[in-house]
Amino acid sequence: MAKKKNNSAVSLITLVDQKAKAAEQYRTIRSNIQFSSVDRELKSIVVTSSGPSEGKSTTSANLAIVFANGGKKVLLVDADLRKPTLALTFKIPNPDGLSTLLGDREATCEKYAIETAIPNLAILPSGPKPPNPSELLDSKRMTEVLKQMNDYYDLVIFDMPPVVTVTDAQILAAKTDGTLLVVRERKTSKQGILKAHELLKIANANILGVIYNGAKSQSSSSYYYYG
Ligand SMILES: Nc1ncnc2c1ncn2[C@@H]1O[C@H](COP(=O)(O)OP(=O)(O)OP(=O)(O)O)[C@@H](O)[C@H]1O
Ligand SMILES: [Mg+2]
Repeated sequence: MAKKKNNSAVSLITLVDQKAKAAEQYRTIRSNIQFSSVDRELKSIVVTSSGPSEGKSTTSANLAIVFANGGKKVLLVDADLRKPTLALTFKIPNPDGLSTLLGDREATCEKYAIETAIPNLAILPSGPKPPNPSELLDSKRMTEVLKQMNDYYDLVIFDMPPVVTVTDAQILAAKTDGTLLVVRERKTSKQGILKAHELLKIANANILGVIYNGAKSQSSSSYYYYG
């Protein structure tokens, strides 16, 4: 019998039903993100939230799809090295990925990125779980890898762990162009939002806005708010 795993695939509504209300909302979020940064090109985005299970992976995956649909060459990176889910969601293998790339000084990101059936969308899975995720993300090698990614892709989206629990999202928020904070209906506490905001500010993150991930009705819904 398979052991029950915490890591599970999330819904790719933007792929399954482009006409769904939620898919339309992801496209609205895409436009708002583009408008939020008209003067400065946005090449790398971190997606995080205060605590677990608030919709970070769902949001990053669906946003990656709508940006790719919009014609941008997108790399979606599973930078949640502690609890990766993107490989499961996109049904791709995960023997190698970000952790391997960070340890392989000779390699460039294309070596481990996997092209998907979705035009313009490549995914870099997490790779094997490292003992020291924060150190890896805080390394000079990560900065080098990020530069390569920015050169090769139009947009890089990082799915991250919760910012209040571990420091990983703060680390990458400091190195990237923008950060999106996901807040989940009936799950995220006001205190959690404030703490997440404070931690991102300390990291000097460019907070693009908050994505409100609601689960009121059967169809999932997301809304975007500015800063
Ligand atoms: N708006 C929504 N409506 C219904 N279900 C949702 C919604 N958003 C997320 N979920 C579900 O909630 C669970 C957690 O979502 P997801 O994995 O995206 O969160 P996460 O913040 O990445 O979690 P983790 O902290 O574990 O990385 C998943 O099973 C996902 O399908
Ligand atoms: Mg996740």
